[in-house]
Amino acid sequence: MTEKAPVIAVDGPSGSGKGVVATHLAEKYTFHLLDSGALYRLVGVAARQAGIDLDAESLDEGRLGDLAFRLDVAFEPTGDPEDPLILRLSGENVTDRVRSDAAGVDASRVAAIQRVRDSLFALQQSFRREPGLVADGRDMGTVVFPDADVKIYLTASAEARAERRYNQLKHKDIGVSLHDLFHSIQARDERDMSREASPLRPADDAYVIDSTDMTIEEVLDNVLALVTEKLF
Ligand code: C5P
Repeated sequence: MTEKAPVIAVDGPSGSGKGVVATHLAEKYTFHLLDSGALYRLVGVAARQAGIDLDAESLDEGRLGDLAFRLDVAFEPTGDPEDPLILRLSGENVTDRVRSDAAGVDASRVAAIQRVRDSLFALQQSFRREPGLVADGRDMGTVVFPDADVKIYLTASAEARAERRYNQLKHKDIGVSLHDLFHSIQARDERDMSREASPLRPADDAYVIDSTDMTIEEVLDNVLALVTEKLF
């Protein structure tokens, strides 16, 4: 039997800090980084580009599944921890579009479709290469890498997550209301946790960290201690 490259799975709801944690871990251990949320966002962007109405009451699951299967994506590391990846769709740089809140909402709609999830499964697993992988998402520890060596589930109250996102956007001079952000986060949580296809939940063997009252430094200290104990 061939030894598989180690995987650190970092799951949790949006705004929980998992992106920062995953990027930091990948850099520290020079592991590959899988931003699985970006893949679902890219499916949404590709669907919009193909003229598919993602606000429609019911979605064409077969067409979206095919589109996800054929997705021509490239992730280019930038070396910048603030913005670690350039995302390309059929060669075009779509990073800003992929990172928008609208793309997050579209992603959570297409992500509820089992055929879309099936189409992205092998692509996600192909990121597992030596010396190791940090996989950031919702179902990394439960579905895509159930044998991950370390599973971290990062969470925080919806209020704290909305406030973090608000400060991030304010920093970038993007005007949004805290109230709208809070409701959008709650709606996305509800959709991600209640869907039938790979709902967001901690794996039974995940180490759960509630970062509501923690600084990002405290979260990182906890995570690094855990990874060191389990993997190094
Ligand atoms: O993490 P991010 O905000 O980029 O994810 C966007 C959406 O993609 C999530 O709200 C979720 O619906 C979906 N997603 C998923 N499974 C993953 C990663 C993301 O369903 N592994």
